[in-house]
Amino acid sequence: MENSAVPSISLRAMQTGSAVGPQAVPAPVAPLIYHDPFSMRIRRAKKALSVGVIGYGYWGPNIVRNFHMQDDSQVAMVCDQRPEALAKVAKAYPDMAVTRDVQEVLRSPEIDVVAVVTPVWAHFELAKAALENGKHVFVEKPFTATVQQAEELIELAERKNLKIMVDHTFLFTGAVRKIKQLIDAGELGDLYYYDTTRVNLGLFQHDVNVIWDLAPHDLSIMDYLLPARPEGVVATGQRHVNSVEDIAFLTVYYPDKLIAHVNVNWLSPVKVRTTMVGGTKKMLMWNDLENDEKIKVYDRGVNTNTREGVYDLLVSYRSGDMWAPQVEATEALKLELGYFNECILKQQRPINDGHAGLRIVKMLQAANESLQGRGSQVQI
Ligand SMILES: NC(=O)c1ccc[n+]([C@@H]2O[C@H](COP(=O)([O-])OP(=O)(O)OC[C@H]3O[C@@H](n4cnc5c(N)ncnc54)[C@H](O)[C@@H]3O)[C@@H](O)[C@H]2O)c1
Repeated sequence: MENSAVPSISLRAMQTGSAVGPQAVPAPVAPLIYHDPFSMRIRRAKKALSVGVIGYGYWGPNIVRNFHMQDDSQVAMVCDQRPEALAKVAKAYPDMAVTRDVQEVLRSPEIDVVAVVTPVWAHFELAKAALENGKHVFVEKPFTATVQQAEELIELAERKNLKIMVDHTFLFTGAVRKIKQLIDAGELGDLYYYDTTRVNLGLFQHDVNVIWDLAPHDLSIMDYLLPARPEGVVATGQRHVNSVEDIAFLTVYYPDKLIAHVNVNWLSPVKVRTTMVGGTKKMLMWNDLENDEKIKVYDRGVNTNTREGVYDLLVSYRSGDMWAPQVEATEALKLELGYFNECILKQQRPINDGHAGLRIVKMLQAANESLQGRGSQVQI
């Protein structure tokens, strides 16, 4: 954030180390950093976009680090209600402003983008206030707590010509991008199913159930990868430890007999992150916990024939080669936040915009409705 008490200095002068103003400025220690001669406070030269981050709990530090490292954005201010969270910011980034007052972020004329990294119950109010103050918003998953809130934010952003990006982080992982390429290139053929497991012991949430906590990842990946929009959802689950479901199974129906299953569970003895996608030509297995060979593509399947005079279907099994495609290892958040900056600066619509966030919230809301009906099918 620019500080009006600090004399301004041009980037060119900083790069050459030339003197500006009443006192000579020492040569910079790095191209974009210099020591202010009056306060000796290290200040970073302004990049194209200035970001305010609200929420520095478990996930916030990743957002701060990845916005701050981009060539065209810097984090100017971090807000959290907890002083101990702000102490961590001050330790990691001594030149970053911190505050407990959210209005300082929302009203700062220096800030162009507000990142909302709080629990979901606070997303709507904070994102709405940010948009009303003319800021682009980056909102954590799940976008909002209700469909109506998501629709209101989309309408507000469109009216004010501001961008919304919802943190569907997995869309920017090497694995999901590779699977997208394989599906789009027709490698798997027409899809039969998408079957995914995301289970581990904890981290128990109190404000949302396991579907709202874990399934946004899978639903956003399915929204990106699968060729059609879902028609209906069936969800079953159970509460064991506190007042929210800690284990749940979702079945999602798509046109053309495509079916998806999502297994989410906070009560698993081991962490599992596996996904299988089956098609008429090939099938693949993605194990996100593997360091190498995360994705394995199997030339396996079934061929069916009917012969004249034989009424039963003849099924033969095909068992060909397996190969493991190369998967890019760049940190997903780095790519995602760089892409968000680009969308803002070039006036483009992100793939994970408010509408994508809304589609996931619709699925989550339908899943909750189905849970209450002990697995009744809810149309989407
Ligand atoms: N994309 C991902 O892979 C991913 C991973 C983890 C969490 N998340 C999402 O990130 C969000 C935050 O999750 P978390 O695990 O970091 O939660 P957390 O509880 O660890 O941290 C939230 C922080 O926000 C602060 N906070 C809450 N309301 C505030 C307010 N009004 N003003 C200022 N500070 C406020 C809290 O003090 C806390 O420090 C959630 O929406 C979660 O779903 C996303």
